[in-house]
Amino acid sequence: MMHFQIYLKRIISLWLVLLSAFYSSAQSGQFKLTNEFLQLIVSNDGAGCYFNLQNNHGLILTTSPLELQFAGNKPSLSYQITTIDSGIVDETWYPPYGTDNHIRNHYKWMNLSFAQISSIATLNIEFRLFDDAVAFRYRLISPGDSLVLMQEKSTFQLFQAKKCWWSWADYNTLEKLVYETSIGQAKHAAAPFTIETDAEDFLSILEAGIDDYSSMTLKQDLSDSSKFNVNLVPWADGTAVKVKDSLKSPWRVVLVSNSPSALLEPKTILNLNDPPQGDFSWVKPLVYNGVWWEMHLGISTWKIQGGRHGASTTNVKKYIDFASEHGLGGALVEGWNTGWENWGQKDAFDFTTPYTDFDLPALADYAAAHAVELIGHHETGGDIVAYEARMDSAFALYNRLGIHYVKTGYAGPVNPPTEHHHGQYMIRHFNKVMRTAAAYRLMLDVHEPIIPSGWSRTYPNLMTFEGVRGMEWNAWSDGNPPSHTCMIPFTRGLAGPMDYTPGVFDILEDNFQQKRVHWNGEDKGHNAVHSTLSNQLALLLVNYSPMQMAADLPENYLHHPAFHFIESLPAKWDESKVLSSMIGQYIVVARRKGTSWYIGAITNEHSRTVTIPLDFLNPDKKYEIEACMDNASSHYETDPENYVIHQALLSKELPFELWMAPGGGAMVIIREK
Ligand code: NOJ
Ligand code: CA
Repeated sequence: MMHFQIYLKRIISLWLVLLSAFYSSAQSGQFKLTNEFLQLIVSNDGAGCYFNLQNNHGLILTTSPLELQFAGNKPSLSYQITTIDSGIVDETWYPPYGTDNHIRNHYKWMNLSFAQISSIATLNIEFRLFDDAVAFRYRLISPGDSLVLMQEKSTFQLFQAKKCWWSWADYNTLEKLVYETSIGQAKHAAAPFTIETDAEDFLSILEAGIDDYSSMTLKQDLSDSSKFNVNLVPWADGTAVKVKDSLKSPWRVVLVSNSPSALLEPKTILNLNDPPQGDFSWVKPLVYNGVWWEMHLGISTWKIQGGRHGASTTNVKKYIDFASEHGLGGALVEGWNTGWENWGQKDAFDFTTPYTDFDLPALADYAAAHAVELIGHHETGGDIVAYEARMDSAFALYNRLGIHYVKTGYAGPVNPPTEHHHGQYMIRHFNKVMRTAAAYRLMLDVHEPIIPSGWSRTYPNLMTFEGVRGMEWNAWSDGNPPSHTCMIPFTRGLAGPMDYTPGVFDILEDNFQQKRVHWNGEDKGHNAVHSTLSNQLALLLVNYSPMQMAADLPENYLHHPAFHFIESLPAKWDESKVLSSMIGQYIVVARRKGTSWYIGAITNEHSRTVTIPLDFLNPDKKYEIEACMDNASSHYETDPENYVIHQALLSKELPFELWMAPGGGAMVIIREK
């Protein structure tokens, strides 16, 4: 039986009712969806459609128009509602990996169908109301028509927004710092765009289920700083989306919660994607190491150069040996294939020719013999034309050799040079890669991606994405300040798993100082890992990724007393909770595997004590605790490698008091005795 087929699907009721009595005329009316927490009101005055949203504190979004703008005003849409269908869904499904072993999908829905104006176009707007979110999408059917969307004119008119957390929208990258500002300063934000209201509710605007469309950014209206208009990343010709016969927008989602911690728990984005079709029982999460950080530090190179090649057979064996001896599931190898000497140029990589010092078949066998997954790598440099032509043979090669994982990357401008990284052209590309990889039974870790939109529910082989200013920036730029890691769970992290790649123990980056060669133009000599060692451990828990990298070199882990915290780290969890948090300041996450709880806590530039309530433990059981924590002198700038390992019996009556140094954190494991 399929591994994660919907197991318990309980449709409480599914009404397909014509609610004509509900509205006064075909042109105008108000249509509501209500639950215990939220109320959505969609209004139609015959000339347009608007929605507002409120919770028990009052209005959250006020009159927010919904509209599509096609090239040449075609096809012409009407706002005369013909039918309304509505219903309730309540089902539970069991994902193959993730932060929780089961997910409830519970919502009320309503579909508004609009009259055809010409014989060609039928428009539906679908709404779903969850306990903690609202979502809507457009579906347009126009057989035989080429539909050219100039802009989706959906709007989010915020009511009493106080401040927000956001990064600048960029059509080509998501690797940006995150800012906390007043709402007025957020002129053009990437999604997810996270907001706090005067009533101290927390919202985030994002998208789910992007199929054949373009990515969304949010542009502040020129005349109203509380109004954010959906903006679609354009094609080179300025149009936004081109399709034939039918158009299906992604879901536009607004998450609503009364605390930052509660913002993180819903699985709405996954729930808004379809269940998988076919057998994905072969999909397995893992914790991995790899020939990676050493290149970013400039200790070795991707290309063969001056005897410093990272992906030599001997060096890769060292990573495989270490993974096998220390309970890691996989070893990544970057720089194994020819072309790195031409990185940035067209046609640089063929994805099948190994460098002469890298014995691919022998290493695939060696890894298998050591029960370690060899994780392949395809750096496309953004050359989509070349990758699409070669992807099949590249995937077939890995498949033949028993390689089940591949990390892909798009570090470079897109070829064709006219297109953006986040436009419809690239969405089609990522779709194609994900489907082709599934056919070859390959699991994917995608770097420089589009924003995840929950596709991994439908294609569970799409394990994880980067799409964040991740760990690599600490190796060759001014790096990521501690507050950055306290913000990304509440922005980019809301969209799906993040391959942030933490776990660096040589935080001073000095163990191999004499071997480092400057290679990156971003490096102005101030590079540093801005965190303490315990913070690095905690990041492995705070940011969930089903392919979770322990990034440091084997030499830096070997015999290190803190390494066993990584050795025992599960790659999938039974249950997760965010115990407490303040966006940009700190976050404490607890994840359960069987009867053990793993707690990850991080703080920003400021030290602080957090109280960890233990009321989630079983009162009839005894527990012991093991923690890797900052000690009194730890500091992310002056003494980052200082830590203390603390073991004790746990008293459930006393909440655990955890002190964190500036830029610090902790990994705490609570085991049943
Ligand atoms: C950028 C990716 O994020 C990084 O992980 C990779 O090592 C380099 N590109 C080279 O492919
Ligand atoms: Ca990157």
